[in-house]
Amino acid sequence: MQVFQYKSDQLCCEAVRLHQLAERFGTPTYVYSRAAILANYRCLVEGLGQLPSLVCYSVKANSNLRVLSLLGQAGAGFDIVSGGELARVLRVGAPPDRIVFSGVGKTAEEIDAGLAAGILMFNVESAGELELLESRAQALGKHADFAVRVNPDVVAETHPYISTGQIVHKFGVAKDEAAEIYRRAARSEWLRARGVACHIGSQILEVEPFLKALDEILSVARALRSTGVEVEFLDLGGGYGIRYADEQPLALDKLVEGVAARVHGTSFRLIVEPGRAIVGDAGALLTRVLFVKRNQQKNFIVVDAGMNDLMRPTLYGSYHEVVPAERRSREKLIADVVGPLCETGDFLAQDREMPDVAPGDLLAILTVGAYGYVLASNYNTRPRPAEVLVDGENAELIRPRERLEDLMAGEVA
Ligand code: LLP
Repeated sequence: MQVFQYKSDQLCCEAVRLHQLAERFGTPTYVYSRAAILANYRCLVEGLGQLPSLVCYSVKANSNLRVLSLLGQAGAGFDIVSGGELARVLRVGAPPDRIVFSGVGKTAEEIDAGLAAGILMFNVESAGELELLESRAQALGKHADFAVRVNPDVVAETHPYISTGQIVHKFGVAKDEAAEIYRRAARSEWLRARGVACHIGSQILEVEPFLKALDEILSVARALRSTGVEVEFLDLGGGYGIRYADEQPLALDKLVEGVAARVHGTSFRLIVEPGRAIVGDAGALLTRVLFVKRNQQKNFIVVDAGMNDLMRPTLYGSYHEVVPAERRSREKLIADVVGPLCETGDFLAQDREMPDVAPGDLLAILTVGAYGYVLASNYNTRPRPAEVLVDGENAELIRPRERLEDLMAGEVA
């Protein structure tokens, strides 16, 4: 879906001009399109078609309460990775039987909170975690439903920091160990195996690694069933790659075709945990040009958003398109778009052909709906940006910009 489009040379989110939003809410501000989020979600649900499946939106991608409640109302389940994310999804009324709890380092408190809520399942990542889950279940007198996250040892082409499905990574356990964990769990009256899980990484564009991973978890699930452990769910994780520059997004139809061929005629239910594919292209970060600096070798467009507001370029060298809110004919220059923070790594774009902008001009950094705001920090004592949701002609502030008082709250001078 083309979310941010020029109308009469003014860049708009749905029917609202970005200029208007910047004037009303200030900058830097994250802007999301309600229609785009819902369209992306529905596209996934429809793409999965007849496959019995549950889409559990991966909360970590964008955990704003309004985004969660939109998706919850549309029927999504949730993939959470912390007690904090659990609190968020419960706050928006998510049905517990649509919540899966992933993550390699759950604490006893987080497990207790998940048990108390009655979530669908804990995706367990080690024998130690299973032991803790069992002891907490016993202490609370509640059965714990779980899946083991299998590390399928498949290579998925993506940034090394977000590749997770190889044996050198901290995530999941090898197939043999998974089998041992299920065997141990079968002896416990507090543990109930509900599925087999995996997640091989994020921003993956090829279908093949997903299918290899599915083959691995399917073989574990089949082996379990042959021993009388009736697991129901195959949790394939998230990671569907989207277009930032000129990538070809993951071919969902091909993935579904491959999955259907494997699970057809079985009674397994699929769980998928997409984050980026639902919110990524639905968000932009509005920022104003503060200065344009030129030295003997380089041009720098200094803007009022920095690495604390959008970490992805600094952290992963990620590409985000940066475009002017008003399109008019201007000279071009090659420039770095940089923030105000005191680090050379504080850049939003490097060696980019940009229009020759001037102080005060408004820019939009695109495709930042996923892993944008959630990775923002207060580094350099900078308040985190505002978040705004656009719905047709309306724009609503869904999180105010932080104030300096917020940043110092609770500190002792
Ligand atoms: N499920 C699990 C267990 C995960 O760890 C993740 C992401 C997802 C689902 C959702 O993946 P998605 O569909 O959004 O690709 N900060 C990085 C991405 C880190 C992803 C971590 N895990 C970035 O900005 O690219």
